[in-house]
Amino acid sequence: MKHFVSIADTSAAELKHILQVAFDLRAERQAGKANDPILQGKTLAVFFEKQSLRTRVSFEQAMNELGGHAIILDQGSIGLGQRESVHDVIKVLSGMVHGIAARVYEHQKLLQLAEHGSIPVINALSDESHPCQAMADIMTMIDEFGPDLTGRTLAYVGDGNNVALSLASICGKLEIRFVIASPPGYELEQDVVDRIMAQQPNMAFEITADPKQAVHDADAIYTDTWISMGQEEQTAARKIAFDGFALDAALLQHSPDHAIVLHCLPAHRGMEITDEIMDGPQSRVFPQAHNRLHAQKGLLAVLLGNQ
Ligand code: CP
Ligand code: NVA
Repeated sequence: MKHFVSIADTSAAELKHILQVAFDLRAERQAGKANDPILQGKTLAVFFEKQSLRTRVSFEQAMNELGGHAIILDQGSIGLGQRESVHDVIKVLSGMVHGIAARVYEHQKLLQLAEHGSIPVINALSDESHPCQAMADIMTMIDEFGPDLTGRTLAYVGDGNNVALSLASICGKLEIRFVIASPPGYELEQDVVDRIMAQQPNMAFEITADPKQAVHDADAIYTDTWISMGQEEQTAARKIAFDGFALDAALLQHSPDHAIVLHCLPAHRGMEITDEIMDGPQSRVFPQAHNRLHAQKGLLAVLLGNQ
């Protein structure tokens, strides 16, 4: 594995290996031990075209805890594709740092970084997908249900967006049933569904417009914002379209009592999730956010540290 740009390009065995390394590193940390400095002398450039809390902090902290170093860059300072072409930027970085994690609008930019550079490229979120998030989400499900998630159900209620795509893809790889409920016009695109199904023909992948049906047999119930970064001008229309798709007490009455609630954050409390559910006993949203650090460490240890 050279890059981590999409779940689709990563095998189930590779995903499981990264997760295992992540759990091992987390166990050391939770036992109060420092991790071995396996990334000593290694530097990761971490680039953002959009805002970030979890991704930014988890990458920098992960590098620190593994003995390496992170350089945080943003669009205002380097002008990727504006001040300088993507091609030239990655040619320069390839001779200076050991990897790049990039959060971009256009997924194509990640593909260009991978094509023209000679260092690992990590997708730190694009308009298409958010694979690092999906790894932390699976860690959180394993924390709850044990290492074998085969046959478990992840129900996603909301926008068929970047987060939903990576979740669908990782569920296919790990044989988790994936059910998604989205309002008309906001579903996962058909070509996305077709690509995932082509890779995992036996996947249990169900699409509905009924949130109650989606959560009926769920082990984990997931939502994300209805208004992703870059869609702010669609706020009014989206609030109308997603009416009835909030994770609230009424919806959770239709789900099993043992189901956990996940959200990648940031949350728009009172829109896609109520305070009652976000802060309630079924919520795992903050351990899920903390798992971003551990998942990042697993990924970096494998990609940059040959673990
Ligand atoms: N979930 C997530 O990626 O959070 P940030 O946008 O804060 O990085
Ligand atoms: N779908 C959201 C995820 C944020 C972590 C966005 O792209 O803004």
